[in-house]
Parts: sequence; C-alpha cells; structure tokens
Amino acid sequence: MENFTFYSPTYFAFGKDQENNTGKYVRRFGGNKVLIHYGGGSVVRSGLLDRVKNSLKEEGVGFVELGGVKPNPRSGLVYEGIDLCRKEKVDFVLAVGGGSAIDSAKAIAAGAVYDGDFWDYYQGKVITKALPIGTILTISAAGSEGSPDSVITNENGMYKRGASGEALRPAFSILNPALTQTLPQFQIACGITDIMAHLFERYFTTTKEVEVTDRMIEALLLTMIKEAPRVIQDPADYQAQANIMWAGMMAHNNSCGVGRAQDWASHDIEHELSAIYDCAHGAGLAVVFPAWMTYNMKHDINRFAKLAVRVWGCQMDFEQPENTAKAGIAALKRFFISIGMPSNFSELGAKEADIEEMAKKACYGDGRKGTIGGFVKLNENDVANIYRLML
Ligand code: NZQ
Ligand code: ZN
Repeated sequence: MENFTFYSPTYFAFGKDQENNTGKYVRRFGGNKVLIHYGGGSVVRSGLLDRVKNSLKEEGVGFVELGGVKPNPRSGLVYEGIDLCRKEKVDFVLAVGGGSAIDSAKAIAAGAVYDGDFWDYYQGKVITKALPIGTILTISAAGSEGSPDSVITNENGMYKRGASGEALRPAFSILNPALTQTLPQFQIACGITDIMAHLFERYFTTTKEVEVTDRMIEALLLTMIKEAPRVIQDPADYQAQANIMWAGMMAHNNSCGVGRAQDWASHDIEHELSAIYDCAHGAGLAVVFPAWMTYNMKHDINRFAKLAVRVWGCQMDFEQPENTAKAGIAALKRFFISIGMPSNFSELGAKEADIEEMAKKACYGDGRKGTIGGFVKLNENDVANIYRLML
C-alpha cells in the first residue's frame, strides 16, 4: 500500500424526509444566502424543490434560484451562476438533483470566489477555495455528493473535463433513497453502471498488497449485482435503493481508492462520447468498460481473474487464467445488457468516422499530454483501438 492522506469532511444525512432539514444544515454550515441550483425540472415536478424552499424559509435563509442544468452540464450556465452569486452576494451553493446539478454547482462555487476564468480549474489548476456546497441527491450515480470532483463540458470546443480540489467536497449531503423512486429505469441502470465503473477504475491498479481496498471494492460490486435487478424491476423498493445510494457514495468518495494507484482511462474515453453525442455517462461506460478490459487484460491476467472469481463467481482456470479473466468480462457484458444498457457504438449513436478525432482529443485535447490511464498508459493509437472494439 502507498502512503496517503484522506480528508472527507462531508456531513451525511441519510434517510426518509431528511430534505426537510435543509435549512438547518445550511445554517449549521454557515450559509445565509443560498443559490439553489437544479436541473431540467424533475425536482419541480416531484415537489422536492418546494419542500427545500420551505425548509430554508423556516430557518430564515434567503435564496435565489437557477435551474436548467442539462445532463453533461455546460460551461454557459456556470458563467451565469457565477454572475448571479456575485450580484446577489450568495455565500452558499445548494445543488438539488443528480451529478450534473451538483457538478455545475461546484463549478459555480469555485468560480464565484476566483478572479480568473473558472475553466482554468478544468485544465489542471487545483481548486483551493470555493463557496461552501450542500447537495440533495436525487439519483445514485456520479458520487459527486461525496467527491472532490466536478465534470463540465466547455461549449467552446465541446471539451468535457474534470476539476478537483478538497474545497469541492460538499459541507453536507442529504441522501434520501425515497427521492430516487421517481427515476426512469434507464437512468437507474445508468447510475448503477457508473457506480460500478468508479469501483473498476480503482480496482485495476499496479499497487501491490491492497487487500483491504480490494475487498471493499468487491463487496460494493457484489452489493450492486444483488440490488440492481430489484430496483430495475421495482424503482419503489426503498431498501434496495438505500443500499445502492450508500454504495454510490462509498464507490467515489475515495475510501476504496486510498493507498493505491488508479486508472481512469475508461472515464476519459467515455467523456469524449458524452461530450460529442450527449449520451448518458453511465450508458457510455457500459460500452467502454468491457472494451477497455479486453484490450488491457494481458497486463495483469491474475487481477482480472481474481475479479472474475470473487465477484462474478467464475471457476478459476489455473492452467489458463486468461480463460477466467475472459469469463469475467463476458459476465460483466451480460450484466449490463440485463439491466438495459447499450453494448456497442451504434446504440450510443456514436460513429466510426469520429474515432480518430475522439482518440486525439482524449490524449491531447485541452491540457492532456499524450497518454491517459494509470493501470496501463494508453496513447492515441490504443484509445482508437479500444473505440474500434466497441463497434
Ligand atoms: O435534469 P432533471 O430534470 O433533474 O432530470 C435528470 C436528468 O435528466 C434525471 N433525474 C435525476 N434525478 C431524478 C431524475 N428524474 C426523475 N426522478 C429523479 N429522482 O436524470 C437525468 C440524469 O441526471 P444527471 O444529474 O445527469 O445524472 P448523473 O448523476 O448520472 O450525473 C452525470 C454527470 O456526472 C458526471 C458525468 O460525467 C455526467 O456529466 N460525473 C461526475 C463525477 C464527479 N463529480 O465526481 C464523477 C462521475 O464519474 C461522472 O463523470
Ligand atoms: Zn463516472
């Protein structure tokens, strides 16, 4: 295991009706004037936004609103939010929604107290200062409710890039599994895929002797495999949604990633797809991950075989562990298809003709230096080959 520091100060309020305490939590973490930031309207239709506003009013907390965050959130609305925060003297940013609303809120919170262009942060500048952030999560997926990350697409060139910094960890996050019961099945499946992808990105490591985090990742993957069919069949299943919601947080607040090198090439490869074709991030990952695994399994067959045995229940082939590794990848593909995820390029609306350009952007575009990934360093040619495996 490698040396590490881990500071994850988010206060989590988990369970039914917790959103009715939003005002108290905003006060507790120093907010007097809030920007409420949300997406395309699901929180209006469900009545959640009204409950949140009532809770703020009860505590005498002032607020302004900015809705309209799109999935794969864009830079334009971030600039609008930054201007609004400055004009209205906002001192707390509250995201109500999924990863997109939360990531856009994080970008606004950082940009509002920065003299330069907020996009600097998405080209590698570390975020050290931001307004405090609170979240009320409505979909288990991105893990942004506990992560120090934000992913935004710059409309100038359609670059989808991530920024990071401890200042982006939410001060509080409200996780009420009942809020996810209105999700369409496709979005639930996208979220499940993303959560599993965050675990795979950490599992495929070059660091030796990381049994504790290996086992935590395996436990969370087994939980996802058990609970996914239950929520797909019945989104109203509170207990299954609850298990998935907490797994989604743990998959990405990095408690399973400390002390080990991580990969993240699959996310970079996917972000090009969702930037260009505007597909759902989870749907993109369902197509990318099996292809990335197939392409890279030769670099550590035993690690792939270990996952296949411990998580997918495959038989170990001691003579030819490659067979076990392949059986694990096949099981993953079957699982994604079983929950309604796409399995190839065309189902994502992606085009073979764009492969070269996407591979180039993934490796060189906007701040990148030629290779991506930690488990295996991939160059432009490798990335193009992985896209081709997805055809
Ligand atoms: O916009 P509204 O109307 O709210 O609808 C959303 C949206 O259409 C809908 N939805 C959310 N909760 C709902 C609901 N519909 C009905 N009932 C509910 N309870 O679901 C759709 C997807 O929402 P979105 O916020 O886009 O989903 P998700 O949480 O998957 O976020 C995806 C974004 O997060 C980024 C992705 O790249 C993508 O841009 N990521 C962020 C990360 C981070 N900050 O740490 C890490 C991830 O790897 C990921 O890259
Ligand atoms: Zn993700």
